[in-house]
Amino acid sequence: MVSPKGGVGKTTLTANLAAALLLAGGGKSNGVLTVDLDPQNMLRLHHGAGVVDGRGLLPAALNGGSFQAACHRSPAGVECLGYGASSDRQRQAFERMLQDDPDWLNTQLDGFDHGLILIDTPPGPSVYLRQVMRAADIIMVVLLADAASFATLDAVNGYLSEYCGERDRWPGVHYVANQTDWDKPLTRDVVQVMKRTLGSRTPLWQIHSDMSVQEAFACRQPVTVYNSRSVAARDIRGIAAWLRTLL
Ligand SMILES: Nc1ncnc2c1ncn2[C@@H]1O[C@H](COP(=O)(O)OP(=O)(O)OP(=O)(O)O)[C@@H](O)[C@H]1O
Ligand SMILES: [Mg+2]
Repeated sequence: MVSPKGGVGKTTLTANLAAALLLAGGGKSNGVLTVDLDPQNMLRLHHGAGVVDGRGLLPAALNGGSFQAACHRSPAGVECLGYGASSDRQRQAFERMLQDDPDWLNTQLDGFDHGLILIDTPPGPSVYLRQVMRAADIIMVVLLADAASFATLDAVNGYLSEYCGERDRWPGVHYVANQTDWDKPLTRDVVQVMKRTLGSRTPLWQIHSDMSVQEAFACRQPVTVYNSRSVAARDIRGIAAWLRTLL
């Protein structure tokens, strides 16, 4: 899950899509893992982890601990490997490690036996973005249906050619226009112009702006559980069903 801009809904979508994918896959408990590659360390909160829970990827990576032991399982059954609590010095050491080994994530992912792994990233270019773009089978670019997101489409192409250019196999690249409000003419215009720019062969998924998404987070539940009949839950189930088929 990547985005050129911040605050578009990557973390929310990572967690909610994971829960929907688990349901779509019949709830197999070790089937879906989410991984937080964002120092904001917010993904775990979407999975019911405690605010002060310091476990995660970074402490395990730096101390040679087990990633499996650092995972948290949500009440919905999704496993989550948070970024983990870190000092500035630890984060810099971790980022240097990622800088020196661009395929570090690729190597680590081989050690997991989960059928599906969803990875959250910070916005914009970073060592984390580079790692996922070299490892992912499918890259989901999350945008808002606004002028600023539209203006970043060129930047996305730049990241893709820079970070995926050396791969043997080009990943699937899909776009999501999140928080769409069809009552707004600007939303309709931007989605239309995004579709035209991306071309008919590149999917542009849409997720409605829906307060149920924010309420679900406040109640520490996936929106598909909190309000399964909400429009956002329906949109997210649609993307999950498509991903299941594709994968
Ligand atoms: N479809 C939606 N409808 C309503 N609110 C939404 C929707 N998707 C996300 N949000 C809200 O948007 C805000 C930003 O979401 P989130 O933190 O997931 O974005 P992000 O892209 O991960 O941000 P960052 O770039 O800082 O990591 C949150 O308050 C979230 O609840
Ligand atoms: Mg985020």
